[in-house]
Amino acid sequence: MYLKISSSSSLTLILMLAASVYGSFHVPRVASLEADSAVALADLQDRAFPNAPDGYTPKGGNCSSTRPTIRSADTLSNNETSWLEKRRNNTVAPMRELLGRLNINGFDAASYISNHANNASALPNIAIASSGGGYRACLTGGGAIQAFDSREVNATNTGHLGGLLQSATYVAGLSGGSWLVGSIFINNYTTISDLLDTNSGSVWEFGNSIFEGPATSKFQIFSSAEYFDNIYKEVGAKADAGFNTSITDYWGRALSYQLVNASDGGPAYTWSSIQLQDSFAKADSPMPIVIADARAPGELLIPSNTTIYEFNPFEFGTWDPTTYGFAPLEYIGSNFSGGVLAENEQCVRGFDNVGYVMGTSSSLFNQFLLRVNTTSIPGVAKTFVEKILGAFGQDNNDIADYTPNPFYGYHNATSNIAQSRTLTLVDGGEDLENIPLHPLIQPNRHVDVIFAIDASADTNNYWPNGTSLVATYQRSLDSGGHLANGTNFPAVPDTNTFVNLGLNTRPTFFGCNSTNTTNITPLIVYLPNAPYVYQSNVSTFQPSYNTSERNDIVLNGYNVATMGNGSIDNTWGTCVGCAILSRSLERTNTPVPDVCKQCFQHFCWDGTVNSTNVSAGYEPPYKIGPINKSDAIRVRNAFPVLTGCLAIVVALMVL
Ligand SMILES: *[C@@H]1O[C@H](CO)[C@@H](O)[C@H](O)[C@H]1NC(C)=O
Ligand SMILES: *[C@@H]1O[C@H](CO)[C@@H](O)[C@H](O)[C@H]1NC(C)=O
Ligand SMILES: *[C@@H]1O[C@H](CO)[C@@H](O)[C@H](O)[C@H]1NC(C)=O
Ligand SMILES: *[C@@H]1O[C@H](CO)[C@@H](O)[C@H](O)[C@H]1NC(C)=O
Ligand SMILES: *[C@@H]1O[C@H](CO)[C@@H](O)[C@H](O)[C@H]1NC(C)=O
Ligand SMILES: *[C@@H]1O[C@H](CO)[C@@H](O)[C@H](O)[C@H]1NC(C)=O
Ligand SMILES: *[C@@H]1O[C@H](CO)[C@@H](O)[C@H](O)[C@H]1NC(C)=O
Ligand SMILES: *[C@@H]1O[C@H](CO)[C@@H](O)[C@H](O)[C@H]1NC(C)=O
Ligand SMILES: *[C@@H]1O[C@H](CO)[C@@H](O)[C@H](O)[C@H]1NC(C)=O
Ligand SMILES: *[C@@H]1O[C@H](CO)[C@@H](O)[C@H](O)[C@H]1NC(C)=O
Ligand SMILES: *[C@@H]1O[C@H](CO)[C@@H](O)[C@H](O)[C@H]1NC(C)=O
Ligand SMILES: *[C@@H]1O[C@H](CO)[C@@H](O)[C@H](O)[C@H]1NC(C)=O
Repeated sequence: MYLKISSSSSLTLILMLAASVYGSFHVPRVASLEADSAVALADLQDRAFPNAPDGYTPKGGNCSSTRPTIRSADTLSNNETSWLEKRRNNTVAPMRELLGRLNINGFDAASYISNHANNASALPNIAIASSGGGYRACLTGGGAIQAFDSREVNATNTGHLGGLLQSATYVAGLSGGSWLVGSIFINNYTTISDLLDTNSGSVWEFGNSIFEGPATSKFQIFSSAEYFDNIYKEVGAKADAGFNTSITDYWGRALSYQLVNASDGGPAYTWSSIQLQDSFAKADSPMPIVIADARAPGELLIPSNTTIYEFNPFEFGTWDPTTYGFAPLEYIGSNFSGGVLAENEQCVRGFDNVGYVMGTSSSLFNQFLLRVNTTSIPGVAKTFVEKILGAFGQDNNDIADYTPNPFYGYHNATSNIAQSRTLTLVDGGEDLENIPLHPLIQPNRHVDVIFAIDASADTNNYWPNGTSLVATYQRSLDSGGHLANGTNFPAVPDTNTFVNLGLNTRPTFFGCNSTNTTNITPLIVYLPNAPYVYQSNVSTFQPSYNTSERNDIVLNGYNVATMGNGSIDNTWGTCVGCAILSRSLERTNTPVPDVCKQCFQHFCWDGTVNSTNVSAGYEPPYKIGPINKSDAIRVRNAFPVLTGCLAIVVALMVL
């Protein structure tokens, strides 16, 4: 994400919230509502589940006969390759339906797909990427995912894009975008509507900031003191077991209370358990990927030299030519050396806690925790922050510690961390590449088209201006430093051009002309956050959102993806279909339909630049206008009595 801590108002809000909460707001804990996380493991196998051996604490045990090893990044993992065989096939039917609905005149999408159904690799390979930017990005990306999801009410109506998620192979998230991707996949490949639906006990209760902890949930009601105490004890237990901890452990635990629909934020839920989740194992869902950057304490990151790590359900590692290796995610707490686990080493599991993975990708938001300390707040919050700050010091504020480094002694000749027992990771956006494109432009993955949702706060008013695409493009050109290592990215202009030509206020395609680059690149469908029905440019560090604002940002995101359900441009749906098909048509030597040629004329960046300095602040006007509550509200928004009352109590205390 892009760091903007300028806003004193958001700080004041944080302090007011924290002060009021810690002053007086204590709800007694109802212990009997607590679920025992060890219970019913077998019953939960159709979702990500608490399969860590000892809650939040990683724990060693016997290895199976084939001991885990580190592999080179030359190819996809066998796991991913065999999963893809199922997934590519499973996208055929949804893609046929989607392209049919998108109504590409003069093109028989159904026959095209059917004719190539036996050779899925001829068909489009679609990915979705959702940027960082805190809750703004989580919710804006959430609106786009909702628009792409055929399970959502009305999403398959004319002008909508439902089915794109079902047609996609990968969905990647970074920082705030990792909260989105994690929320969906950890909670049983759920829908955005379900995450929002207060009827069924909404997961996304952002009315309560992480300084308060959840006011209510399905499982528990308890006080802020107990909330912090739980977090403190859980992280302490990990430390007592001999693992390095960092502020990110606390941040990840706190985040889990907001994002994981399980008692105590699901301390035993692991990211690797997603591979066993029914929908994923059957390849009925895309593959979720989140990313983070490697950074030693105090080191500066620049786009052209960062090592980018990914967490997919099977593995943790990097394609970058330095370390160039992957570890089985389930075992990353084990003491690997030289790519193997010595006979006397145990197989450690439970390191890949879901909150820790999301917290790592968003470690810049450790700031949320740290900023509480900047004034004299009484009570538990301050004690808590003092304790953790005392333990870590400020230099390491944003670091997530992945000791033991799984890549110790691995690829000694090229890896800059091969001689280090520790591996430290930070927020995936710290190298300015705030959209998680890196895993999706790997040549091994053969992605054709990436829907890139950008809710970065690049401008002073927290709107995107293309900074992230520019960073990814620059990195792809770094053949001298060899970091590009086979990745290719289409040309994009400078950020002044983005603003001057309005490329940051409407969807734009990059890389339409695939012969303009030496090697083929994915086509990028850039979907920048812009005010369709809500001024969604909220501060990155706004810590809490009432239900109405939360829903408005999601709705705006839905409109960003659909261009106001086609009301801003009624060719948009068709043109999305053309973008999806473009590379596939080339592969199969199929003539481009005329209607698609028009689309490309209209939506492709044609190479024009206007690099005149943008002087005045960028303040885009509404595209549609403030939400008329009676219109097409996409968000089911019931408000049960209990939640309603608590929200009112909180609101009164803040005012
Ligand atoms: C997960 O979702 C599937 C499909 O909606 C459902 O059948 C299953 O019961 C869910 N599992 C859990 C544990 O909620
Ligand atoms: C992933 O691959 C490993 C090693 O080949 C295998 O043991 C495991 O069963 C695979 N997992 C899945 C979910 O396919
Ligand atoms: C391909 O997907 C279809 C459903 O779309 C399914 O019926 C068929 O069994 C799948 N084939 C393979 C080889 O997985
Ligand atoms: C990246 O470049 C910065 C600035 O030149 C430097 O401080 C840093 O050490 C470099 N990092 C790596 C991993 O090469
Ligand atoms: C990527 O990096 C690896 C490891 O350094 C190297 O073996 C491989 O040849 C590189 N690939 C390309 C396409 O440059
Ligand atoms: C937080 O408070 C402690 C104790 O008052 C102090 O030592 C520390 O420097 C403070 N940290 C920040 C970031 O203000
Ligand atoms: C790689 O480095 C490790 C740690 O220094 C060392 O133990 C190992 O022997 C080296 N491996 C090779 C193949 O040089
Ligand atoms: C775009 O955002 C970057 C990052 O905040 C900033 O440095 C740059 O000046 C901005 N450019 C424009 C034209 O807004
Ligand atoms: C470039 O953009 C600036 C600012 O939007 C505008 O005033 C100027 O006319 C543009 N120049 C050209 C050649 O279009
Ligand atoms: C595509 O790019 C190539 C190489 O730059 C160029 O020769 C060709 O005219 C371009 N095609 C179109 C349709 O712009
Ligand atoms: C084509 O490639 C050139 C050279 O990389 C680049 O400057 C230009 O902007 C590209 N044109 C388009 C339309 O992408
Ligand atoms: C679905 O569309 C109908 C008809 O336009 C509308 O009445 C309803 O509110 C919509 N539902 C949602 C959840 O958007």
